[in-house]
Formats: sequence, structure tokens, C-alpha cells
Amino acid sequence: MSFSDLRFIIASDVLLACLFPLAILFLGYKHVPSFSFSELKDLLLLGRRKTRQYGHFSLERAHESYAQYARLAEQELSLMRKSYSTLGRANKNIGYRIGYPRKLDRLKDVTDLNATIPDGIAELALEEFPSLKTKDPVAAGSADLGRVRESLKHFVRDWSEEGAAERTRIFAPILDLLRGVEAQERGGLRVLVPGCGLGRLAWEISQLANELSFFMTLSLRFLLSPKTTTVPNEHILRPYAHWFSHQRTNGSLFRGISFPDDVPRLSSTFRLVEEDFMKLKPSSSNAQGEDRTYLSGYDYVVTLFFIDTSLDVLSTISHIHTLLRPGGTWINLGPLLWTGGAQAKVELSLEEVLQAAEEIGFVIDRSKEGLMAQRTVECEYTGDRNAMMRWIYKAEFWVARKSK
Ligand SMILES: C[S@@+](CC[C@H](N)C(=O)[O-])C[C@H]1O[C@@H](n2cnc3c(N)ncnc32)[C@H](O)[C@@H]1O
Repeated sequence: MSFSDLRFIIASDVLLACLFPLAILFLGYKHVPSFSFSELKDLLLLGRRKTRQYGHFSLERAHESYAQYARLAEQELSLMRKSYSTLGRANKNIGYRIGYPRKLDRLKDVTDLNATIPDGIAELALEEFPSLKTKDPVAAGSADLGRVRESLKHFVRDWSEEGAAERTRIFAPILDLLRGVEAQERGGLRVLVPGCGLGRLAWEISQLANELSFFMTLSLRFLLSPKTTTVPNEHILRPYAHWFSHQRTNGSLFRGISFPDDVPRLSSTFRLVEEDFMKLKPSSSNAQGEDRTYLSGYDYVVTLFFIDTSLDVLSTISHIHTLLRPGGTWINLGPLLWTGGAQAKVELSLEEVLQAAEEIGFVIDRSKEGLMAQRTVECEYTGDRNAMMRWIYKAEFWVARKSK
């Protein structure tokens, strides 16, 4: 190579193009302690990077997130260690004497133990959805540790003895009402529970559960499959370990909670539809037997902490109305926490929601007393009962009928 060739290369964009990814790699390495292969690939593909092809709640993204749980949690812990290491000498000594480094070591151990659950969920998903074996992790989008943790907390809310008090408060008004239906009639009831989360309420009612997010359904599948769950309380999760706030003791922070207190299985009376509730069809009047999704209309639609997760609550209420048979009943219990993810089309007060329901064609039960009475139910949502704080919802319970 001649001197002028060399001078050309040094002065040209070619060198810059080669050095740029290396510089980013170097800077990235300084700030993020470890890279996965897919992240490295991502960095080196600068400019030609594929974009995420799957939705936030898709099977692919949920699977990728469960599969990456251990690595992401480990990364978080590295940041905590790094932060501790920046303490001055005197404060580091205090930290040492109160056992803070040991607490971080304990978090490492607990994270490894916790990882067995998401790893198991990811493995089962691979078996149940073989298409995942060929998924491109870049196209699945970045793994979402927060959503994995939120779903894991639902094991406690829905399927642990620890969560029984939280559940009882919100399930009781709904189950008491359904128990009030004549025994002969009860067996034939068609009940839809949209946005069922990990499905406990639908299981208690023994009917059709519907859920859009694969973060939830992959966890539910982990309970439903005899390959991963066979007996009550066979799994242990330390669901609060990663959040050091509001804890009285480290014992409480790292405590394990066993689940499931009951082992659910799908059956002709407990079915799961993994799709957008808005796409569920009103049933045709003469369909019989197995395919209950498409029967002539549900006798009940039960929404628990659901309607406010919609970006278009008016369409959601209209769709509940469409799915019910004439004379069918909508039971709702939940808050009005208009979703933070994106701008909702409307953000209504309770008064407005009820007025809108009437506009759509519902008759709200206005009894002052009894099982149907509209009332406020104070309750929690995946609360830690030992924590130094409580988030109390004043959720609203109402019963509305579609006119005959
Ligand atoms: C706040 S969570 C409540 C879960 C459960 N009902 C409970 O109380 O534990 C709302 C759930 O609704 C689901 N969801 C939201 N929009 C949905 C839709 N269009 N179709 C089906 N599920 C949906 C979410 O994925 C989420 O799991």
C-alpha cells in the first residue's frame, strides 16, 4: 500500500465508519457491565438495525423477556454494587458493618433462585410454541423486566395463600352474586372474564378466561401444564426482593412465597382465549358444545380491574354490550386508573362512565342494598402485606343489565 493510499484511508469516511461502532462498544462497555450476544449484534448492525416487529404484549416479546430475566436482573444488581462502591471510605465502612454488601450478595442468591421460575416459563413456552425457536431476538424488541416482575407478582395475587386476603375482598362481591343464581341455571351459564390476568377469578367461576398479554398467559400456562406444575405450593418465588423500598427487615424483603395454593387445569368449563378482547365475536345463537366463544351471547361478562386499561373505554363498554345476550349482565369491579402507556381517547370520571354505559344501552342496578347494590370496595392490587406502605384503591362495584 502506497503512502497516498494510506493517507486516503485515514482521511476518508471508511475509517470513520469502522471506528464509530468500536467507539460505541467501548463507551457502552464502560457504562453497562455486560452485553448479550444479541445486544452486541445490535450495536454492530448500526444503521442497518432491524426494528421490533412484534407488539408489546406479543408472545415473542414476552418469551424474550422471560428468557432474559436472569441476565437483566444481574445487570441491575451490578449497577447497585457499582453505586455502593462509590461511597466514601467512612460510609462504606458503615455499610459494611450493617451488612449491606452481604445484602447485595443475598439479592444475587435470591435472584438466581427466582430465575428458575421465568426460565421454566420460557422453556415451557418454547415447547408449546415451537415457532419461538426461530424468532429473531432483535425483532422481538428489548426484553421488559418490569412486565415480567409484574406478571410474577400475580402468582401471589391470584395463586398464593399470601394473596388470599387481597383476593377475597374483590372476588366476594362477584362470586356471591353468581352463587345467587338458581342452582339448575348455574351449570349452563356462559361467563366471560376479559383481561383475566393469571386467571384465578375465571377459575373460581370456572368459565371462559380471556387475556391479551402473553406476559400473563405464559405464566398462567406454567400453572396449567402438568409438565411444570403438578401439586399445590410446589414453586417458591421471592417477589419483593428486587425493590428495597418500604421494607422493615431484610427477612421480609427476601421472603419466599409458595404457589399455587390450588392447581388449575383447563377443562370444558375453564377455557383460555389468548387474544384481544375487542376481537372476540358475539356468539351465534345455534352454536352448541365445545366452541363457547361463539355462542349466542354471554350471560355474564365480569370485568375486574379491566375497563380502565383500555385506551378507548367507550368501545370497550360497547363491546361488552355486544357480547352479552339480551338480558345479560355486566359485573364490574375496579378503579379508574386511566392507563399510563399512551393517551386514552377519553379519561372519564365514575359518573361519566356510568352515564356512558346507560347511553350504550345498559341499565345500571340502582339498589341501595343487597348483592346487586353499587358500592365502593377498598382493596389492594399486588400489595405486599408486610411493607411500610399500602396503596388502597376505592374500587367501584356495579351490576348492569343489557335490555331484553
Ligand atoms: C390491571 S390487569 C388486571 C388483571 C386481572 N383482572 C386482575 O384483577 O388481577 C388488566 C389486564 O387486562 C389485560 N387486557 C388489557 N386489554 C385487553 C384486551 N383488549 N383484551 C384482553 N386483555 C386485555 C391486560 O393484559 C392485563 O392483564
